[in-house]
Amino acid sequence: MLVFAKIKSIQQKIKSLPKGTTVGFVPTMGALHQGHISLVERAKKENDLVVVSIFVNPTQFDREEDLVNYPKTIDADLSLLKSVFCDLVFTPTAEEIYSNNIKSASFNFDGLEHQMEGKFRLGHFDGVGTIVKRLFEIVTPTKAYFGEKDFQQLQIIKKMVVKNQLHVKIVPCDIFREEDGLAMSSRNARLTKEHRNIAPFIFKTLKQAKIEFGTKNALEVMQWVENEFKKQPLLELEYFEMADEETLLPIKTKNKTQKYRAFIAVFAGNIRLIDNISL
Ligand code: PAF
Repeated sequence: MLVFAKIKSIQQKIKSLPKGTTVGFVPTMGALHQGHISLVERAKKENDLVVVSIFVNPTQFDREEDLVNYPKTIDADLSLLKSVFCDLVFTPTAEEIYSNNIKSASFNFDGLEHQMEGKFRLGHFDGVGTIVKRLFEIVTPTKAYFGEKDFQQLQIIKKMVVKNQLHVKIVPCDIFREEDGLAMSSRNARLTKEHRNIAPFIFKTLKQAKIEFGTKNALEVMQWVENEFKKQPLLELEYFEMADEETLLPIKTKNKTQKYRAFIAVFAGNIRLIDNISL
């Protein structure tokens, strides 16, 4: 496994690959867990070579505290990647990516950016768009792998690829969960014991909301979820929304031909957790 911190050196390596080599890319912010590894393993199966990037992107954080406290476990990350035979790892510094201008570009994702996370994390998707576009330019992957836990991010990246005519296939990957149902996230490591114990309540409620959606309308299900969280003092519901999978617009009336998903963001202490379920 080769590790590169400089753009020029990883580009040189990628350019030196035999013509036609397929490159699978898994962009990450490090603090790797089994969810990331499942993406790497899938990328390994579907490509000649796998590149993983580890970069905690400052422009996508709306809360300074979240950026400063984001877990950084580079040695463990590299050992884990080596154990699954990752080929190349890109670990740039913020200066390498942004020079001395740590700023996002401005994107128009046709409104996807204004829903859910976009309402609560101002500028977040401009930051994500900026870094993912830059990483795609550097790595020039054939396919790039994204987990469905960040479903809105996934739809936004797909939109960016279409709008900018980028030559990369975006591969959505199922959410990887702990045994008790909690969606895997680098942030889980920062939960207190108490919050970790209660966190599976999030997915349990999503699963029940899916059942409730069989007999109730969207507004009734939302009210049901809000009530469930009122009974749970250790978790604070930020939003629960049910939306069309493609447009991410909230459901008005149920339509059999559309695909819907329920989305949730919850604070467990000061750790923000998100999850979603297909309805
Ligand atoms: O999902 C993430 O970990 C990040 O948003 C990503 C895609 C690596 C961009 O920084």
